[in-house]
Amino acid sequence: MNCNFDKTVDRTQSFSEKWDLSEDVFKQSNILPMWVADTDFMPPEYVTSAIIERVSSSPLGYTFVPSDFFKAITSWYLRRHKIRIKSQNIVANATVMSSINLLLRSLTQSNDSVLVFSPVYFPFFNTICNLKRKPIYCDLKYGKKGLMIDFNLLEQQIKNCKPKVLLFCNPHNPGGRVWDPEELEKLLQIMKKYEISIISDEIHGDLVFPSESFNPLITFAGAYKKNIFTLSAPTKTFNIAGLKSSFMISYNPKITEAFTRLHDIDNYPKLNTLAITATIAAFNNGDAYLDNLNEYIFQNYCYIKKHLDKKYSILPSQGTFLLFIHTPINYNDNAFYRKITKLGLGIQMGSIFGSNGQGYFRINIGTTKKNIKKAIAILNSI
Ligand SMILES: Cc1ncc(COP(=O)(O)O)c(C=O)c1O
Repeated sequence: MNCNFDKTVDRTQSFSEKWDLSEDVFKQSNILPMWVADTDFMPPEYVTSAIIERVSSSPLGYTFVPSDFFKAITSWYLRRHKIRIKSQNIVANATVMSSINLLLRSLTQSNDSVLVFSPVYFPFFNTICNLKRKPIYCDLKYGKKGLMIDFNLLEQQIKNCKPKVLLFCNPHNPGGRVWDPEELEKLLQIMKKYEISIISDEIHGDLVFPSESFNPLITFAGAYKKNIFTLSAPTKTFNIAGLKSSFMISYNPKITEAFTRLHDIDNYPKLNTLAITATIAAFNNGDAYLDNLNEYIFQNYCYIKKHLDKKYSILPSQGTFLLFIHTPINYNDNAFYRKITKLGLGIQMGSIFGSNGQGYFRINIGTTKKNIKKAIAILNSI
């Protein structure tokens, strides 16, 4: 299969949040945008042609989610993640974030505590607070593999704050940490001991460097999997986030029922026709595209490690297209952000992912080598 990730795709004037809103966000024109978490690559050809075929062959009236959608997911999980999932344990929903919202409402009450690691994808905090639940932060350590769980601190926080749920990110955004089986097993042991349910956001699960492997949390859960709610999507992998397609894997009929009831009562949107079409095409055919994509992103990571000035310290990563990099020590966060924006690079500071992200910035490396070179030139010039 021919995947030309070097090809520049002009995403301007396509309503791209990353490309078309950069001027508003950074208050400056000519920004090279490396902030919003989507890649700059075209989805595979069989996805775009499935969409075109669907649009041109039949009206876009009301649709339901067909069994082929669930079969495509189960087959993908078996091929890619070596785990057998039954269609009956999968629930389709438009977005991962709305599933997090529905799950938090199904699993907790107002004022209940919800545990999150920090730094982490910041909409986690907002969702917990908007629902009047209390976020309990557990700072990750900066270690030799990158972000690491401080299990002593975790247990201390649990004893102090008695959270009902852990909102977990696997692999981790930001920082690209792909958790090891040992870490996941230890985490599960602690969650079991204190009877804490886990929402495991695995949206970046397909995106691991070639020598790494992703471990879905349920792989190690045994009977505890009834307390684990996995959320994933084809959207990051195949660059179709604008279509809105995701799913939950649940082994807990009671919570699944609460989730779907809230979904119906609040009139959450069902999956749209083209999201269904694209998801089936992507998961049924996507292996070669994904292997090539992971190789390309890994090469970008290696290139940055080789060419970025040593005044920066790159956090070790095993996957995702999101790197966490320490700013040069002679800059504070504000000064660095102002300077780098002025030079035309659109990044996000680590502190928006939690106070434990201070001193770092997140950069999206899911782009062409040409853009990576431009970004390095800007970063090295200060
Ligand atoms: C960890 C994580 N979860 C969820 C999302 C958003 O997913 P969705 O658009 O399906 O809500 C993102 C997007 O960046 C993400 O990185």
